[in-house]
Amino acid sequence: MSATPLPIAVLASGEGTNLQALLDAQRESRLPITVVGVFGDKPAARALERARRCGVVAEAIEPRAYSDRASYDEALFARVASVAPGLVVCAGYMRLISAAIVEHWVGRMINIHPSLLPKYQGLRTHQRALAAGDREHGASVHFATPELDGGPVVSRVVVEVREHDTPEALAHRLLPHEHRLLLATIALIARRYVTATPLGITIDGRLLHEPLTLAPDDYLYDAAGFVA
Ligand code: GRF
Repeated sequence: MSATPLPIAVLASGEGTNLQALLDAQRESRLPITVVGVFGDKPAARALERARRCGVVAEAIEPRAYSDRASYDEALFARVASVAPGLVVCAGYMRLISAAIVEHWVGRMINIHPSLLPKYQGLRTHQRALAAGDREHGASVHFATPELDGGPVVSRVVVEVREHDTPEALAHRLLPHEHRLLLATIALIARRYVTATPLGITIDGRLLHEPLTLAPDDYLYDAAGFVA
């Protein structure tokens, strides 16, 4: 793989299956990235264990040791900065991040969210999609801004909602598609096809007016995985 690897820091609070997809792709040279650190708020998070097993720096910084969100985020992001990432990936990081910190990383931090944004920012997205009677659901990758799940959307993947779906079944069916979406999107960012500029997201130098949509059955982790 010719491109210089993009150093990535991952923020995660839970299972870390998205992180695992990144680590696997790196190991198998499917993505020009190096995961340089994994950070979170929960010492017992499986994500940290997954990172350590791959020899990646993994640290939990516990919120209760800090008096407020701002000082917690400063400590957390000082650790993030210490591994010098070119991109910060929030992959199941379940805490709000203070606006000042997000501003500092703007254009260099993305989040994967399990809904077709701008629908269902925040929690319980699968349940809300089912309650609304949506026929389609999905996941989005967006650049982070101070508004929770509100930054410009780069890409998304759509799955059908089935009759008798439960939030759990829908989440379970969506998750492997999230992994593909995250990898495909990071491939575009790592190869500098996609960048966040003050005017908006650009792809190959042109402004992106609609999010890229990952083709349903395309398992390529590069630009070819998206349809217009
Ligand atoms: C995913 O659905 C992600 O979109 C959401 O939290 C879940 C995390 O999954 N933000 P994992 O920890 O990567 O397994």
